[in-house]
Amino acid sequence: MTAATLPMITLSETTLGEEEAQAAAAVVRSGWLTQGERVAAFERAFAEMVGTPHAIAVANCTVALELALEAVGVRAGDEVIVPALTFVATANAVRRLGAVPVFADVTSEDDLTMSPQDVARKRTKKTRAVCPVHYAGWAADVDAIARAADGAAIVEDCAHSPGATLGRRACGALGAVGAFSFFSNKNMTTGEGGMLTTHDEALASSLRLARAHGMTTSTLDRHRGHAYTYDVARVGTNARMDEIRAAIGAIQLRKLPANNALRAERVRWYRERLSSVDGLELPFSHVSRGESVDHLFVVLLPPGRDRGAVMSALRADGVQSSIHYPPTHTFKAYEGFEAILPVTDRVTPRLLTLPLHPTLERAQLDRVCDALVRALAR
Ligand SMILES: Cc1ncc(COP(=O)(O)O)c(C=O)c1O
Repeated sequence: MTAATLPMITLSETTLGEEEAQAAAAVVRSGWLTQGERVAAFERAFAEMVGTPHAIAVANCTVALELALEAVGVRAGDEVIVPALTFVATANAVRRLGAVPVFADVTSEDDLTMSPQDVARKRTKKTRAVCPVHYAGWAADVDAIARAADGAAIVEDCAHSPGATLGRRACGALGAVGAFSFFSNKNMTTGEGGMLTTHDEALASSLRLARAHGMTTSTLDRHRGHAYTYDVARVGTNARMDEIRAAIGAIQLRKLPANNALRAERVRWYRERLSSVDGLELPFSHVSRGESVDHLFVVLLPPGRDRGAVMSALRADGVQSSIHYPPTHTFKAYEGFEAILPVTDRVTPRLLTLPLHPTLERAQLDRVCDALVRALAR
C-alpha cells in the first residue's frame, strides 16, 4: 500500500472499549442519570489517585477552572498569572470572572512550562492567583512558582496531567485546587467532563455548592426522601457531571496507569528515532522534576522552517499533526493584553505535535518519523 491508501495516522485516539459501553448502558437501564452514587464513587477513586481528601466532579475543565479561581477569591479586576502557551480555556476562565490574565513566559526551549522567574517579575499587588499548566503531561515547577507567587493562590491546570508527579506528589495535589479535563483527546476521557481536587475542606464544600446552584441538598437526596426541600446557600451554577460519564470515568481511571505507561513507551520510541535528526529539538529532554504522563509529543522544527509546509507534507504521507498551541496572547480576543514573552514567542512558531496515544503501533510511529524526516529533507 502507498501512503495515499494507508489509513491516516491520527493525532489521538480514545481507549474506550466494551467495558465503558456496558457501564454506560447499565446507567441508562438503571433509570438514574443525574449526579448520584456513581459520581460519588468516581470522585472517591480520583481523590485517592491524586492523594487529596477531596475530589469534585464537574462538567468540564473550563468550568472547573472558573469555579476554582472564584473559590480561591478571584474577583473582577484581580490579576491572575497564566501561561500563554496553553489552551485558551486557562485565560478564558480568568476573563469570565472579570479578572485580568497576566501572561507569564515559559522557562526555556526545553522546559515549556511556566517560568517561576517570570511569575516573580509579573506578580503585583493585584495578583490573586497563579495558574500553572502541566503542559504536555509535565509538572510545572509548582514549588518555585508558589514561592514566586508570594501568597497568591495556586490553581493548577491539570488538563494534561492525570497521574503526573512533581517529585513524589501528584499534579492536582500541589496547589490550592487542581482542575482536570476528561475531554475526548485527554489521557482519560468521559467525552466531556472534569474534576476538581483539593486538600482544603472549606474549599471543597464551597466548590460542591458552587457546582450545583449553591443548593444544600441534591436531587438524589430528595428522590430518596432524605430531604424534602433545599436552601440556596450561595449563588452557583450547574456544572454537574452525570452518572453516565462517571461510570465511564471510573473505568478510564482504572486503565490510566497502563495507558500512561503505553504513552511513555511511545515517547521513548520517538526519542530514539528523532533525537539525532538534524535541526530538530525535542523539548523536555532535560526536565527531571517527576514523571510525565506524556499527554502530547511536541517537537521544535528547525528555526525558520515553514511549519505549514511540513504539516502539509505529513498529511500527504497520511500523518495528522497539530499545533499545541497558538499562544493565547496572539488571539484577537486578547489584543491589548500586555505580553512580554520572549521565549514563548521564539518557541511557538516552531512547535509541532505528532500523533501520540496508547494504541499507536510501532510501525505507525516509524511511519510518522519517516514522513517527518522526509518533510525536513525537502
Ligand atoms: C491546558 C488545558 N486547559 C483547559 C482545558 C479545557 O478543558 P475542557 O475541554 O474540559 O473544558 C484544556 C482542554 O483542552 C486544556 O488542554
